[in-house]
Amino acid sequence: MALRKVITQGDDTLRKKCKPVTVFDAKLHALLDDLKETLYEENGYGLAAPQVAVLRRITVIDVGEGFMELINPEIIESSGEQRDLEGCLSCPGQWGYVVRPDKVKFKAQNRNGDTYEKEVTGLFARCVCHELDHLDGKLFVDVADEMVPEEQLREKKEQKA
Ligand code: NI
Repeated sequence: MALRKVITQGDDTLRKKCKPVTVFDAKLHALLDDLKETLYEENGYGLAAPQVAVLRRITVIDVGEGFMELINPEIIESSGEQRDLEGCLSCPGQWGYVVRPDKVKFKAQNRNGDTYEKEVTGLFARCVCHELDHLDGKLFVDVADEMVPEEQLREKKEQKA
C-alpha cells in the first residue's frame, strides 16, 4: 500500500466526470488499498478516486460503521432531509452547511465486481452523497447554503465542549 497525494480545489481534475470501472483486477485492488491508507492517514470519512487524480467511479468510506468500498455506486432511493456541516479533504479549511437526504439506499460493486445494495442514514448517507458528487465533478462548496469561517467553527466547538 502507498499513500496517494490528495489534490485540492482549483485542480481541474476534481471537476471532471469519472468513468465507470470495467476491469476488476490487481491494479484496482492496489488503488483501493491506497485509498484506504490515504483515508485513514488524512482522518477523513470518505475519499473518492478523483481526489487522488484517478477519474474512475470509486470511493471508500468509513464513518465509524466499518470500512466500505463503493465501485460504480448509484443512489437508487433517497428520503428525508438533514442539514449539517461538511468539510472535504480537497477543500482544506472550508466548512459549510449542506442539505442532504437523511436516508439513502445505494447499489455498488465490491472489488470483485459483485453488486450489493445497502441502506444508510444520517452521517453515512451524507457521506455517500458527498462522495458520489465527487464522481461527477461536484464539490460540497457548490451546494453548501452557508459557509462557516473556521475561526467561528472553533468557537462553536469550544462552546459545545
Ligand atoms: Ni470531499
